[in-house]
Amino acid sequence: MELRTSIVSPVDVIETPRLLLQRWGDAHFDDFLRFMRDPDVIRYIRPLPLSDEKGAEHHLRSLEEWELHGFGKRAVLEAETGAWLGFVELSLVGPGKGCREDDVEIGYFIVPERWGQGLAIEAAIAARDEAFGRVGLYELIGRSRVENAASARVMAKAGFRHVRSHVLEEGVTVDIHRISRDEWMRSRLGTLLHSTSPVAPRAEDERRCGYREVG
Ligand SMILES: CC(C)(COP(=O)(O)OP(=O)(O)OC[C@H]1O[C@@H](n2cnc3c(N)ncnc32)[C@H](O)[C@@H]1OP(=O)(O)O)[C@@H](O)C(=O)NCCC(=O)NCCS
Repeated sequence: MELRTSIVSPVDVIETPRLLLQRWGDAHFDDFLRFMRDPDVIRYIRPLPLSDEKGAEHHLRSLEEWELHGFGKRAVLEAETGAWLGFVELSLVGPGKGCREDDVEIGYFIVPERWGQGLAIEAAIAARDEAFGRVGLYELIGRSRVENAASARVMAKAGFRHVRSHVLEEGVTVDIHRISRDEWMRSRLGTLLHSTSPVAPRAEDERRCGYREVG
């Protein structure tokens, strides 16, 4: 499939005030497998925990995506301790999801013990900025199950707008959210989100999410 962006040079680590967002690698595989068995993590994502076999397929695909596109999944690690906190990703939506196949979507997953601390928002804002900055996308999609209120809130706070809902083949309804490059640029100038976003990101969220790309 031809991607509506050219391949870009990867950046290994993005630093945010509390997090390291590390380019996906073999070092993350075991944590990923364990994480994707947690029923709280997968509740709105898949009906069953990820088997080791499927996990290995996902892992290989994640490595491949970096090679193909120059962006992909990043482990979310605690900056202070290096502890695994989850992952954030930019990935192609693919077929049958209610979007264009070559749309790029954002995803974020945080360990349940650390929910409610603004970590997903911090990671999502850095990934959003990577998508429009380094990767040079014109728009970024976010999809979440209608029941997944925390995920919708993260998107709203990162400046995404709800555009429509879509019923997947298996009968699950997902909300589709979108932010364009123009909206992103205007939000960075501090003018847009007050008028068109249902939730304006608090200044502290944006400040907290100042980030630095390394390597
Ligand atoms: C969605 C998820 C990433 C959020 O992680 P988190 O680190 O707790 O998120 P944050 O703390 O950054 O922000 C969550 C926001 O949602 C709000 N929220 C949490 N649960 C909520 C609920 N049930 N209803 C409404 N809002 C809710 C929080 O109050 C917070 O908003 P606020 O900052 O305005 O108070 C986390 O729940 C998760 O990993 N879930 C499993 C994987 C998943 O579903 N990922 C999303 C798929 S793309």
